[in-house]
Amino acid sequence: MNSSDTKSTSRKNKSKNQTKIKGINYYDHHKYDKFWVGRDYEHLSEVAAIKHLLAGSKFKKGLDYGGAYGRLVPTLSEFTEELILSDPSGEQLDFSRKYLKDFKFSTLLLTEDAHIPVKAESLDLLVMVRVSHHLVDPTKNFEEIYRVLKPGGKAVIEIANSAHFFNRVKWAAKLKTVPKTPIKVGQYSNGIVDDIPFVNHNPETIFKELNDANLKVVEILSVSNLRSRLIKQVIPLNKMISIESRLQTKLAGMKFGPSIFVLVQK
Ligand SMILES: C[S@@+](CC[C@H](N)C(=O)[O-])C[C@H]1O[C@@H](n2cnc3c(N)ncnc32)[C@H](O)[C@@H]1O
Repeated sequence: MNSSDTKSTSRKNKSKNQTKIKGINYYDHHKYDKFWVGRDYEHLSEVAAIKHLLAGSKFKKGLDYGGAYGRLVPTLSEFTEELILSDPSGEQLDFSRKYLKDFKFSTLLLTEDAHIPVKAESLDLLVMVRVSHHLVDPTKNFEEIYRVLKPGGKAVIEIANSAHFFNRVKWAAKLKTVPKTPIKVGQYSNGIVDDIPFVNHNPETIFKELNDANLKVVEILSVSNLRSRLIKQVIPLNKMISIESRLQTKLAGMKFGPSIFVLVQK
């Protein structure tokens, strides 16, 4: 049996063990907290990006959109007086109450795509990280973000970047450019098997969609620039994060990294 057979067998076994889930609550039954074991570099890179984009601000009411079990609640708590953790997965929200016993936040179940059950113009801050890769067409979500933000309110939106540096090189080798449309990256990311969308987005398209939703781009950062097994093995984590923090602004213009953080304002 060659390695691709092994891969496909393990995928078949995986899919046998997983239930098909309808709707957007497909993170129920998913041990998403386990996904973060061994990913301290990625986690701390994202925390650094959020801290940079929100530095010096304190928001009255903030919402983590698709926040799962609240990985980012400790960080967002530093910048908000009141924080709502929202997610379509009731199980992730239940787990957050155990996982984050020492933090003050409320939870909100999302039952419909692109609908946040809060009043229009009621939020000062919204944060959406690692959700865009589940949204094939995020335009309605951006319109909803516009609806719920107060005038002048801000949002941090993370984009899974299809046009990161190494992908551009790969496409260039085929004498092509990275498509402007979302690129499917496989159903098996994060260990979930289903018809769940997993896509990467071209930031140019996302910027246009944000603009169409009247969300003004204030700042962008290139994030997880050093994501590489080899680098992780040779450079200590604290050194990596210190280099990463400096690169996030320097490489933003060329949209180098696999993840782009965008600060927008209504
Ligand atoms: C990869 S996790 C990211 C969780 C958290 N934001 C983080 O960065 O740790 C993706 C989350 O998006 C949620 N999600 C999936 N589809 C969604 C949708 N249409 N609207 C809002 N959240 C969604 C999932 O339930 C899941 O908790």
